Amino acid sequence: MSINRPHGGTLVNRIDLNADYTTLHQEIELDNTALSDLELIANGAYSPLAGFMGEADYQSVVRNMRLAGGDIWSLPITLPVTEETAERLNLGDPVKLVQNGVVYGVIEVEEKYRTDKKLEAELVYRTTDSAHPGVKNLLERPDVYVGGPIKLVNRPDKGTFADYYLDPAETRSLFAQRGWTSVVGFQTRNPVHRAHEYIQKSALEIVDGLFLNPLVGETKADDIPAEVRMESYHALLQSYYPEDRVFLAVFPAAMRYAGPREAVFHALVRKNFGCTHFIVGRDHAGVGNYYGTYDAQRIFGQFTEEELGIVLLFFENSFYCNKCGNMASTKTCPHAAQDRVALSGTKVREMLSRGEAPPPEFSRKEVVDVLIRGLREKSADHRDSVASI
Ligand code: ADX
Repeated sequence: MSINRPHGGTLVNRIDLNADYTTLHQEIELDNTALSDLELIANGAYSPLAGFMGEADYQSVVRNMRLAGGDIWSLPITLPVTEETAERLNLGDPVKLVQNGVVYGVIEVEEKYRTDKKLEAELVYRTTDSAHPGVKNLLERPDVYVGGPIKLVNRPDKGTFADYYLDPAETRSLFAQRGWTSVVGFQTRNPVHRAHEYIQKSALEIVDGLFLNPLVGETKADDIPAEVRMESYHALLQSYYPEDRVFLAVFPAAMRYAGPREAVFHALVRKNFGCTHFIVGRDHAGVGNYYGTYDAQRIFGQFTEEELGIVLLFFENSFYCNKCGNMASTKTCPHAAQDRVALSGTKVREMLSRGEAPPPEFSRKEVVDVLIRGLREKSADHRDSVASI
């Protein structure tokens, strides 16, 4: 297999940094999710999408996990606006897409439509519980969706790790330059702990390269901040991975916590970045107890590998086994639960924020050191900013 064909056949490019938008007067204010979606539509990460979804695509995606034209797509990518904004917009008009006074894009308003958000929550998230962070965000966003093709006219600021923001066209050519014909994509919103490392390296035994692609868009407040995670990835890669077999770049999308549906979305987007393989482990993109441990693997059973266009690598729950003396999973380790080092994400976050190190069987010391220091600095910054209000 060579570097993978984009989803839908063509890599979308709707970046037009020379576009003249000065004559446009109407505007739509973007939230952070919509701003990141705008850029990811424009740079082809969401190919074949060329804009925010109109009603036919929306309904088809929510109900059947396919765009109206038939391509697999699992999450609605929508632009919600308030009633008042919707009333001001005329169909057919180009409208500026702004955040805090900066124009980032232009949308040609083809449609304005209302939907049943409870049904969207039920079908996409499998729950209408507003305690679910993705459902909460969905219900809090305004009620009218605007659909139509977009252009990106300004790139959002990348902050401190600007070098790690790459468009799919760039990652594709970098993979090709490295001579990689098979590349496995890895999604994470967490630091890379030993279990992640184990499944990544198991995959690396059979493919040319690993595309470590941490999500750095909006996450829930108790997830570890992206800046701290980025430093931890560097520390880990430096000490434990062969440099020429790993490529690190960020995925600036918002996390939806939609479990199975989001796993399909994550796989298709990594295909657009050029991956030929994608890892789905335990409770991928899950939160709390909303999804079964392997639901995010099972969902792919509805599609053929051919129409997905990317090979899924499924991994069982992995852990360090004291009796085996190495990393393992229930597929390879015969020992009992008490022989295994198992810590929940919540427990680990609590330990780290108390400055307590999880055991080296759970996480590499180099990673833990960065996380403890980073979280300490973040909470000091937070205290300073609260004190100065
Ligand atoms: S998320 O983005 O999918 O929410 P997370 O960091 O929790 O991020 O997981 C990244 C990937 O590693 C997912 O595919 C997940 O299923 C897998 N994973 C995480 N922990 C384990 C584990 N202990 N065993 C097997 N797979 C795991």
